Amino acid sequence: MEATAPGSEELVLAFLAEAGDEYVSGEAISDKLGFSRAAVWKHVNALRAQGYRIDAVPARGYRLVEIPDRLGALELAPLLATRDLGHALHWFEEVDSTNDVAKRLADDGAAHGEVVICESQTAGRGRRGRVWSTPPGRNVTLSVVLRPDLPPHRAAELTMVASVALCRAARRAGVAAAAIKWPNDLLAHGKKLAGVLTELAVESDRVQWVVFGLGVNVNARAEEFPPELREVATSLAAERGEPVPRALFAAALLAELEEWLDRHAAEGFEPVRQAWRELSDTLGREVRVLTGDRELRGLAADVDADGALLVRTPEGLERILSGDVEHLRLR
Ligand code: BTN
Repeated sequence: MEATAPGSEELVLAFLAEAGDEYVSGEAISDKLGFSRAAVWKHVNALRAQGYRIDAVPARGYRLVEIPDRLGALELAPLLATRDLGHALHWFEEVDSTNDVAKRLADDGAAHGEVVICESQTAGRGRRGRVWSTPPGRNVTLSVVLRPDLPPHRAAELTMVASVALCRAARRAGVAAAAIKWPNDLLAHGKKLAGVLTELAVESDRVQWVVFGLGVNVNARAEEFPPELREVATSLAAERGEPVPRALFAAALLAELEEWLDRHAAEGFEPVRQAWRELSDTLGREVRVLTGDRELRGLAADVDADGALLVRTPEGLERILSGDVEHLRLR
């Protein structure tokens, strides 16, 4: 089921959200939004029926106490600080893969910044044909349609934009240990917090669209992952020791993403590369790399101006454009 936001309720909610812990009078809401007092009351009740807890106190007004743990437009729209990203939001309770939906939308002309988001995926996909598992209602699972003005050979740069944004959002959510494994896995203490699946379509010499699929383990508990993932996956909540409000995190992630996409568009790849290096967990480590049908070992020395990983091996410096990296030991 796909849901879109009814405008009036969203406006009332945005007004209450902006007031934070303060009460706002029914009169102030009706003056500001141009609804009758009866209509304000009706919208407040409609929001309550959807799981919002809204206090009503005579002579003081309304106060938003709790929002439901859901990632629909009603929850996200009041929190969005972005210009383009997430304002057109396609929310699903359950979907096969948000990337597959976003790719279909992109082919049908979706605009830059449209977001597909869900509570649960039945066929989530990871990099290199792997399965991506999402316990229902626990994580942030979304795909963003982008229309960058880029030649195809620079598309890999965007993947690093995504990992920088993810890592900064995770750190802002209280996970100081979040760091990036080349090219774009997010780890904390060696366990996987989040991943990015980037897909794109090319038309002559330009990128037609890019879809970023972002899967972040936000509140999932170890026992909710399949047994084979329990030892290798973690979540923001597990790392920080308390639950993370998913809508707040999703809004912060989209804001970081837009900020770094803008920076990349205005200043090119270099500031992204510098940020990536600072947030990297890979550089300076001994690594094993699987690339094509080759396996090599060496010291992860740097990323170059194309985002390729430079690995110092006994045979010389190797330049890795795509592959899987395993961290072998501490620096
Ligand atoms: C990886 O680390 O292998 C990448 C995982 C990417 C998972 C996300 S979840 C949202 C989007 N939809 C998918 O089917 N995959 C990506």
